[in-house]
Amino acid sequence: MITLETVADLRLSVSTWRSAGQRVALVPTMGNLHEGHLDLVRKAKSLADRVVISIFVNPLQFGEGEDFSSYPRTLINDSDKLSSVGADLLFTPPVSEMYHRPQPLQTKVEVPGLSDLFCGASRPGHFVGVATVVCKLFNMAQPDVALFGEKDYQQLMVIRQMVEDLSLPVEIIGLPTVREVDGLARSSRNGYLTDAERSIAPALYRQLQQSVVELKKGKYDLASLERQAKIRLEAEGLRPDYYAIRNADDLAEPTQDDRSLVILAAAYLGKARLIDNIRVDLE
Ligand code: PAJ
Repeated sequence: MITLETVADLRLSVSTWRSAGQRVALVPTMGNLHEGHLDLVRKAKSLADRVVISIFVNPLQFGEGEDFSSYPRTLINDSDKLSSVGADLLFTPPVSEMYHRPQPLQTKVEVPGLSDLFCGASRPGHFVGVATVVCKLFNMAQPDVALFGEKDYQQLMVIRQMVEDLSLPVEIIGLPTVREVDGLARSSRNGYLTDAERSIAPALYRQLQQSVVELKKGKYDLASLERQAKIRLEAEGLRPDYYAIRNADDLAEPTQDDRSLVILAAAYLGKARLIDNIRVDLE
């Protein structure tokens, strides 16, 4: 695996592969890699001849007072993991290579509507930062296909809309959430949890599963299901941010006829903000 830090070097490698007729996949990440990320890389290998992984802790998607400076940076370890799953190229640009201007002067990509809900409401500007960096990475690596986790369901929807709205020539693949044995979604931020918090954390996914059971039993007072779920999470020691049952395709409030739903949830626990979701098919 080669590791590159400049856009010029990345372009050179990718254009060599492309002119040899090879298909290129991109897996964008912020590093501190775990099985969720490695699953994306393995799948990428099965879909393309060459796999590029980016590790870039993107300042544009962190708000003031958020964990940009404390976000775990574990490059040597990450690099070993990527070599072991057969990635071809690791792109680790410094901030100065990605952004040449102060943040307020940087051209940005905005995906309206979707970006204002849930994580976007709690973290203003977050999805502008995500869409901008992902768009830049697409332009830099020119992948045929790019892979993202359904763990960040809203992020995946924002990226799909950006690709559609800007006619970007890349296929977007979403992969299921990889979990710990107790159900907790794998996340680079789980490392912020103390042992006591770690034992509380799986309650979030348990609650999502519980809500699915209730929906499938025919309970359709969504506002009351959401309210009860938040109360139960609080009783477990979590501080819910949002808990919302929505249409899986557009995140609109479901009508009685909607069969394909998603439950999106975020909750604070100590220094961590956990997010998770579950799909509900009512057919
Ligand atoms: P990061 O949190 O590092 O995640 C990188 C990719 O891994 C995302 O597509 C995310 O959805 C996926 N992922 C994370 N945990 C997962 C899990 N448990 N199972 C499956 N996939 C998982 O998401 C970002 O970085 C950034 O916002 C980024 C898209 C790189 C833009 O900066």
